[in-house]
Amino acid sequence: MNNLIDGKKVASEIKDEITQKISYSISKGNRAPSIKIILVGGHGPSKIYVNAKLKACESVGIDAELLSLNDNINQDELSGIIKKLNSDDNLDGFIVQLPLPDQISVQKVIELIDPSKDIDGFTNDNIGSITSKKKKLMPATGLGVMTLIERYNIDIDSKKCVVLGASRNVGGAIAQMLVEREDATVIVCNSKTKNLKSLTIDADLIVSAVGIPNLVTSDMVKKGVAIIDVGISRVKDSSKKSGYKIVGDVDFENVSKKASLISPVPGGVGPMTIVSLLKNTLKVYCDKFKI
Ligand code: GUN
Repeated sequence: MNNLIDGKKVASEIKDEITQKISYSISKGNRAPSIKIILVGGHGPSKIYVNAKLKACESVGIDAELLSLNDNINQDELSGIIKKLNSDDNLDGFIVQLPLPDQISVQKVIELIDPSKDIDGFTNDNIGSITSKKKKLMPATGLGVMTLIERYNIDIDSKKCVVLGASRNVGGAIAQMLVEREDATVIVCNSKTKNLKSLTIDADLIVSAVGIPNLVTSDMVKKGVAIIDVGISRVKDSSKKSGYKIVGDVDFENVSKKASLISPVPGGVGPMTIVSLLKNTLKVYCDKFKI
């Protein structure tokens, strides 16, 4: 397939660049970058994502430590842990893996994170900076999507970009990042949008970040469209040992026959989100050590 957007390959190239930068800094006598990952409870997919993040950190020379917390932790206890991490000068950043148990307010948690350590780029301060001239830590998935657009030279100048999904941290952030380029026409769809097909059918770029398998079918797109699939869902698959497989929002098999470029799931945006976390960590670290 020569229309594949290979997120795994791009992520691996960026990881090599990050590795070099970190070894250079260490050769100058600096410590390695250091982050923590908070995992609350035993949510199956989260454990898999967190392990992938830890492995990626290790591969580039970032010290990453997992902080596994009981799923009956309360808001105050979690707040106490976040405050401690905020004031740890030897820590460059941390993330709180989502989702969180029902007794915890996600927004309260996010807003307690020191924006300068928010390597997910989820705080209001960082998301708000998408629209500012001085960008801070960009939301990791959006940064990954924009990197794919650049690396694959997807031409969006004067083109119509349709973003499916308007969540604050993902779809909405991606749409805002596209708007900031000041060259594309951006349409953002949410769960109330009527007749999606009327909007997607003449799109030059579709970014789907909804989490509904087969939301985008081949009758909804024009020939030559570029597709970036941010969705991640688990569907039953008895042929797999685990009993399920991971799919995106797009009917890949059929849409890929019409698309000029298309990202698969897995192997598309997923590795790019992880590499963006590494990039954000490096940004905090390089600013601190003036590299
Ligand atoms: N859960 C699913 N994706 C993410 C992510 O990018 N960051 C965090 N913190 N949790 C997630």
